[in-house]
Amino acid sequence: MTITLKVALLGAGTVGAEVARILTQDAAQLQARSGAALELSAVVVRDTAADRGPHIPRELVSSDAEAAIDGADLVIELMGGLEPASTYIRRALSRGASVVTGNKALLAEQGPELFALAAENGAELSFEAAVAGAIPILRPLAESLAGDTVTKVMGIVNGSTNFILDKMDREGADLEAVMAEASALGYLEADPSADVEGHDAAAKAALLATLAFGSGFSIDQVHTEGITAVTAADVEAARAADQVIKLLAVVERSEAGVLMRVHPTLISREHPLAAVHGAFNAVFVEAQNAGELMFYGPGAGGAPTASAVMGDLVMAARHRLAGSAEPTRLAAEPIAALPVQDAITRYALALDVADAPGVLARIAQVFADHGVSIEAMRQNGHLDGAAELRIITHAGTQRALDATVAAVNKLDVVTGITSVMRVEGN
Ligand SMILES: NC(=O)c1ccc[n+]([C@@H]2O[C@H](COP(=O)([O-])OP(=O)(O)OC[C@H]3O[C@@H](n4cnc5c(N)ncnc54)[C@H](OP(=O)(O)O)[C@@H]3O)[C@@H](O)[C@H]2O)c1
Repeated sequence: MTITLKVALLGAGTVGAEVARILTQDAAQLQARSGAALELSAVVVRDTAADRGPHIPRELVSSDAEAAIDGADLVIELMGGLEPASTYIRRALSRGASVVTGNKALLAEQGPELFALAAENGAELSFEAAVAGAIPILRPLAESLAGDTVTKVMGIVNGSTNFILDKMDREGADLEAVMAEASALGYLEADPSADVEGHDAAAKAALLATLAFGSGFSIDQVHTEGITAVTAADVEAARAADQVIKLLAVVERSEAGVLMRVHPTLISREHPLAAVHGAFNAVFVEAQNAGELMFYGPGAGGAPTASAVMGDLVMAARHRLAGSAEPTRLAAEPIAALPVQDAITRYALALDVADAPGVLARIAQVFADHGVSIEAMRQNGHLDGAAELRIITHAGTQRALDATVAAVNKLDVVTGITSVMRVEGN
């Protein structure tokens, strides 16, 4: 006897349309893998008059989300935004229907509440598509590494900003010029702030931390800096030091709690993340027993993101047939989110200083006074009696590093601090 599960699709845009295509084209394979026929029962959109192509039968299209949800066993939310997506997901979970979504913005705001609602109702809320598009990363973190201890995750999780920084690195161009090109090529939204200010990456950082460390985290707990202050000079200086600048989402666990941060970061060109070019995404995981792992692939796009949605859908269908939802992935006791001042990183600084005897010693003394040790210091002389000094520190808390930077800035021999950037990796 064939069991049929009804699937409601909320949203049939870039990703939703591809999900409908795969559901139709690969129906037999999906049935073999999930154990049930997955039948598209409703498609909810705003514009019900638009032609949706051969994979979305007209009679399934409506704007009546409530009816679609109430008639479904599984609900796929691909509308995006907070509302009405949140209301619809809550309605589905409350009815015991499992939900698959790619909505990082919503989960980063309301994830803990929504996961709790899913658990209360014996339903599943899966979201592989919400972080790094097609790359299977959430399931590996939650399941494949369930027997290990993940200590740190570093991701290039925003393709637009990676495209921009990569182009700045390859061509020596400045940020404005590359942003204009990225917009023309469709890599940036009309309002690019979610990408270039780091908010999109911060939402994904909260989700990565939620799965890596088994506690619910939200976007407001993530320290966020975008790429808008990165200059062509920063990129050139990185190049001279055999480094590259990437916008990284870093989440790490210590005994005290979890620290989440998004910021431009210097990494060695030898680091695997340095080889991530263009709009690609990658997630680098450090685990106690597995060591270092890297997951790489397309971070966006209709078909790649739909691939992640379909993986979640097949798993949700299997669990539904087995009569059990996946056990909750969250620990009973919430884990504390730590302030960014507790982060332990290395810093790279560029200072404009007077080109005079004793200057280096005075600056080095300020570092020593604050307990920050210097790994490397290089001076480039200028013609007008000024010099540029580049310093790389050993690891210290951000609190100590910030205090050092503030004290160095007050020295009369320092005319300006032109760049302060964190360094990750060896
Ligand atoms: N695009 C990607 O590469 C990508 C990658 C990872 C994750 N995601 C996530 O996946 C989700 C969908 O993204 P997308 O790019 O496919 O979006 P999209 O192309 O803008 O499509 C949104 C769809 O939702 C429908 N919709 C929006 N608001 C609605 C409402 N109030 N009532 C009914 N229908 C509504 C739209 O209807 P109309 O067609 O009638 O306008 C459209 O079909 C988002 O959460 C996004 O963050 C996308």
